[in-house]
Amino acid sequence: MQETRAIVHKVMVPPDTEGYVLDVVSDGMYTIDEPLVTLQLLDGTEKKLTMTQKWPIRIPRPTAKRFPAVKPLITGQRILDTMFPLAKGGTAAIPGGFGTGKTMTQHQVAKWSDADVIIYIGCGERGNEMTQVLEEFSQLIDPRSGNPLMDRTTLIANTSNMPVAAREASLYSGLTLAEYYRDMGYHVAIMADSTSRWAEALRELSGRLEEMPAEEGFPAYLASRLSAFYERAGMMQNLNGTEGSVTIIGAVSPQGGDFSEPVTQNTKRFVRCFWGLDKSLSYARHFPAIHWLTSYSEYVNDLAPWYMDHVDKKFVDNRNRLMAILTQESSLMEIVKLIGADVLPDDQKLVLEIAKVIRVGFLQQNAFHKDDTCVPLEKQFKMMEVILYLYKRSRTLISMGMPMSILKEEDIFDKVISIKYDVPNDKPQMFKEYMKMIDEFYNRVMERNA
Ligand SMILES: Nc1ncnc2c1ncn2[C@@H]1O[C@H](COP(=O)(O)OP(=O)(O)OP(=O)(O)O)[C@@H](O)[C@H]1O
Ligand SMILES: [Mg+2]
Repeated sequence: MQETRAIVHKVMVPPDTEGYVLDVVSDGMYTIDEPLVTLQLLDGTEKKLTMTQKWPIRIPRPTAKRFPAVKPLITGQRILDTMFPLAKGGTAAIPGGFGTGKTMTQHQVAKWSDADVIIYIGCGERGNEMTQVLEEFSQLIDPRSGNPLMDRTTLIANTSNMPVAAREASLYSGLTLAEYYRDMGYHVAIMADSTSRWAEALRELSGRLEEMPAEEGFPAYLASRLSAFYERAGMMQNLNGTEGSVTIIGAVSPQGGDFSEPVTQNTKRFVRCFWGLDKSLSYARHFPAIHWLTSYSEYVNDLAPWYMDHVDKKFVDNRNRLMAILTQESSLMEIVKLIGADVLPDDQKLVLEIAKVIRVGFLQQNAFHKDDTCVPLEKQFKMMEVILYLYKRSRTLISMGMPMSILKEEDIFDKVISIKYDVPNDKPQMFKEYMKMIDEFYNRVMERNA
């Protein structure tokens, strides 16, 4: 049944049912409660199938087998796709203090990721954010299928003014829905905003049951509940032979942005991707405020072959080189803090300059810019190429004794920083011009010193 333009809803035999098809109704208009298929079960009784299924939400729907994670969930966000990639069927947490961009990041992933179905669970957060999803998503067009984004999105609303008991259940409702679509062979991504509100609901219910409180008043089974939640993610072979996945992305809102509290700590044990938001970055309006030094993705190695086959052989290598420059910057900054940048040798000044290009030109991404909001992998790769080429050429100049002050008189660093705005997503051929500009810059500096 064509449920929306984006989804063909399959009428499936429930997992716990086995038998022979006796009868199928002819094409036509039916409501979701009308029987479409008659089965004869093994014990001889008959069972009617409709377009709905009932399933206890706390129990995972069974699958045939679990595959290792080898395909990325592509989101169009550079810091995610390139630096800290998430696999289809993987798990990620977005922890961050008040106003650091948890909701924005989840909206961006919900909008632009290449999942077939999105389940967005608003769990104990503001109601206007749910309205925003409804309004924005019906106007936005999925760049891959050309359908309105709302056609593939399901919202589960349990906003902060709604009952606590329902909040505890809302996460499981979302999961079960996701598994239901996964069983049809879709790749489903779940955003849960926020799992902290869910844990607080758990705490409240546990308190009313007069259970023994553990750390910070949370029940002792907080960890096992969290693990049971994230365990339902995975790339699966379904019982009907199709392949589908559930990817879980949970926001965590620790009070005061303190990552040592129990929900963040326990979540960290069960997710393999950690996109840590940083208060000082968001305060400096560096968005997405995902900090490259506190975040990690354990999928980098698992997904490396995919990136090398589908984007470029050098993709992962380039990514690692950018990370190395950023790490180098952070240790240099320790020295700069003590004695200032002037005393650094020129090759280290260059590292700081290139790290700035990476931070501002590559990691910063404007969600409100028409091109920058979602960037294809090819452009992400080419941007890395240009930055690393600029680094290579500048390093040669410096090793020949040119001072950094001369290099900085050129505007090439700023030009590379604004590639994200100046090169439209559909014009990758423009990158050649940048390579040429870097060569010209190199020749100009050489001539000046000759
Ligand atoms: N990727 C981004 N691009 C541009 N602006 C951003 C981005 N991420 C966050 N912001 C800015 O930060 C503001 C706060 O973001 P958001 O509402 O997502 O934070 P939050 O962590 O969900 O906060 P809360 O704890 O209140 O739920 C946004 O209104 C927006 O102005
Ligand atoms: Mg929020």
